[in-house]
Amino acid sequence: MKSNETLSKGSRRTFLQLSAAATAAMAFRISTEASLAAEERKVFHPGAVVIDANENPLGPCDAARKAIVDMAPQGGRYSYWLKEEFVKTFTEMEGLKPEYLRVFPGSSEPLHFSVLSFTSPTKSYVTADPGYEAGMKAAKISGARIVKTPLTKTYSHDIKAMVVAAPDAGLFYVCTPNNPTGSMTSHSDLEQLVAAKPKRSVVLVDEAYIHFSDGVSAIDLVKANQDVIVLRTFSKIYGMAGIRCGMAIARPDLLAKLENFSGWSAMPITAMAAATASLKHEHLLSERKQLNAVIRQKTFDRLAGLGYAYVPSQSNCFMLDAKRPAKEVIDAMAARNVYIGRSWPVWPTHVRITVGTQPEMDAFHEAFVAVMKNSTTTGNVPSLNKRRSYPDGQSWPSV
Ligand SMILES: Cc1ncc(COP(=O)(O)O)c(C=O)c1O
Repeated sequence: MKSNETLSKGSRRTFLQLSAAATAAMAFRISTEASLAAEERKVFHPGAVVIDANENPLGPCDAARKAIVDMAPQGGRYSYWLKEEFVKTFTEMEGLKPEYLRVFPGSSEPLHFSVLSFTSPTKSYVTADPGYEAGMKAAKISGARIVKTPLTKTYSHDIKAMVVAAPDAGLFYVCTPNNPTGSMTSHSDLEQLVAAKPKRSVVLVDEAYIHFSDGVSAIDLVKANQDVIVLRTFSKIYGMAGIRCGMAIARPDLLAKLENFSGWSAMPITAMAAATASLKHEHLLSERKQLNAVIRQKTFDRLAGLGYAYVPSQSNCFMLDAKRPAKEVIDAMAARNVYIGRSWPVWPTHVRITVGTQPEMDAFHEAFVAVMKNSTTTGNVPSLNKRRSYPDGQSWPSV
């Protein structure tokens, strides 16, 4: 084919369709907390305190680690039955029918696939501000209008405002506890949203951090066959961000839409073994929730003692008002080898802090006190775009 002019009408249509598909494929990127944090990450020096990506420094529980080691020799096989065992374990625990669950390597995939499935240039994406950005990136790909509504005075999603702002909504994204604030949106608010939303739109409830909180899951709304998709991940309280397991829980006809993108591929068998072992661990959730709450409270008490305000959180992250431009504080902390999270344009003096181990939070406190004493904060900041390395010597991306 020499040029477009030589194409017949039919083949021109095919050509255009193919180039549109190619452009969409090129534009299709899955944003994750890891990629969003990495965009701003600098070189990690030895001993760095990394509390910028809501990771769990504890890693997988002992039973999950053993399951991974025991499973490793079988790594040459797909072993679909492990996924079936995982689905059986989770759905029995939650009283769900197995067809209401799909497993993915993390919840970033179903988050993106939900947004791509239910938003379009005529069906808006509605979210809170500040809120987790990944869904907005997916909405840009689907060409949807992005509607951001501020959190309420108590930092929950403003359900009424969300409904009013988008009569053309395709998907309402509610993250509870919210990333970055760790604040909750109540179950009754979710019920109101489901009742008031436009017909054919869906409510995507992201429960990535729910186990750190006292919140009530929206899974009962799924069981009641509402237009609700619940997302869960093993990246947070279960400490498996690098092992990759997440899920979408919804009515089968909603899940079927996500399957246009993916949903039946093989899962890493180590992830399946570790996730199933974690689910069966009797005390994992309560122990880790308690530990996180104790360290978080101690951090809050110290900040209050210093005269700094924070948003009360029920999660493993919180927003701290540093009373200074966020970027300046992030860079000054990095110069002291403490990597804190990013900021959101709507709150320019707030920085997101992930709750790490107690020694990590002690180091955070010490660095924060020093940074705030210093009026000139920036200076010895490692530059971006260099080869990045983790404190344990691994580099990213590998070269
Ligand atoms: C709110 C929220 N949803 C979803 C995810 C996706 O996590 P993953 O893909 O690791 O399961 C994250 C990661 O940090 C998150 O913060």
